[in-house]
Amino acid sequence: MTDKLILRALKGEVLPTPPIWMMRQAGRYLPEYRATRAEAGDFLKLCYNPDLAAEVTSQPIRRFGFDAAILFADILLICQALGADLWFETGEGPRLSTITTRAELDALKPVDAIHDTLAPVYQTLRILGRELPRETTLIGFAGAPWTVATYMIAGRGSKDQGAAHALKSADRATFAALIDRITEATIEYLSEQVKAGAEVVKLFDSWAGSLKGDDFTDFAMKPAARIIAELKSRHPELPIIAFPREAGQGYVGFAKATGADCVAIDNSVTPEWAAEHVQPGGCVQGNLAPGHMVTGGDALVSETRRVVNAFRKGPHIFNLGHGITPDADPENVRLMIETVRGM
Ligand code: CP3
Repeated sequence: MTDKLILRALKGEVLPTPPIWMMRQAGRYLPEYRATRAEAGDFLKLCYNPDLAAEVTSQPIRRFGFDAAILFADILLICQALGADLWFETGEGPRLSTITTRAELDALKPVDAIHDTLAPVYQTLRILGRELPRETTLIGFAGAPWTVATYMIAGRGSKDQGAAHALKSADRATFAALIDRITEATIEYLSEQVKAGAEVVKLFDSWAGSLKGDDFTDFAMKPAARIIAELKSRHPELPIIAFPREAGQGYVGFAKATGADCVAIDNSVTPEWAAEHVQPGGCVQGNLAPGHMVTGGDALVSETRRVVNAFRKGPHIFNLGHGITPDADPENVRLMIETVRGM
């Protein structure tokens, strides 16, 4: 039996107070994060420096006492491990060499080569396994294949994922082969994370909302189902959180269709709707709007209470609907946590 609250919620237990953590809890809104990133040199150097990555992972645990720590890394490291060039333009975001042809796909490294690049990430997890407080759950993660593919195809982020949709229409075979390659790499990546000490893994499908109809089934649901089935066969007790962001109606039945233990909900749906339509399928995580971490005040308190109350009859992990932003005030994070734990 475990006494870790996050693991209990993921097993379906309804707790009097939901456990809490926050997407991007280690990030630029924290002065101690900015200092450690400066010490590392830049964001990617921080991701690949196990001592400093473990340090920034631990910072929000020390400051706020969250119930979970999420590995500090990025969903795009796997692209680099597969042979793509990756860098971050300051103030703009990620840039990658692009994959839009069969020849470029064939030139990627084989899946079993990814560990050469990703070994420091596993080392970060080993350090955290030793250093985190015993009540804190350690979460590993990867991007879901569709979201990772959108960056590999376009070479950068985009509002509408147009380049990926275009390749899917123009050359479905190459597109599907890229999804398969990322799916296979993700299985190996997450499996190594679990061996290194991750107690839970989360699949971030940040752009799932732009997949409609059969595309949602084929490229959001099926790859997640394949990854989850393979991970569960290797690690039968491993709980898995899926985050098909902005899936809307697609959230309904997503846990059953993919085998996920928990579905993370963004804040484009109300907590009352998600409690009625998604939570009957199992544990849910979410879904306070991240903007409250900037604006604070009475609205933060009342909306935090609303989320807790909406999900109170079923298993729930409190979180934001998406990552906290750099302009957030750490004191608002403290107010959110006090509100959840004081109810
Ligand atoms: O939640 C966590 O704190 C764990 C670590 C984590 C990061 N990125 C750190 C990060 C996780 C889980 C991610 C996921 C991620 N990365 C996603 C999916 C989740 C989501 O937010 O929708 C995506 C799409 C990426 C790709 C990515 N990484 C982008 C688009 C950017 C730039 C945007 C920005 O905020 O500047 C990043 C950079 C990034 N990843 C930062 C952090 C803390 C900021 C980098 C910095 O310190 O300058």
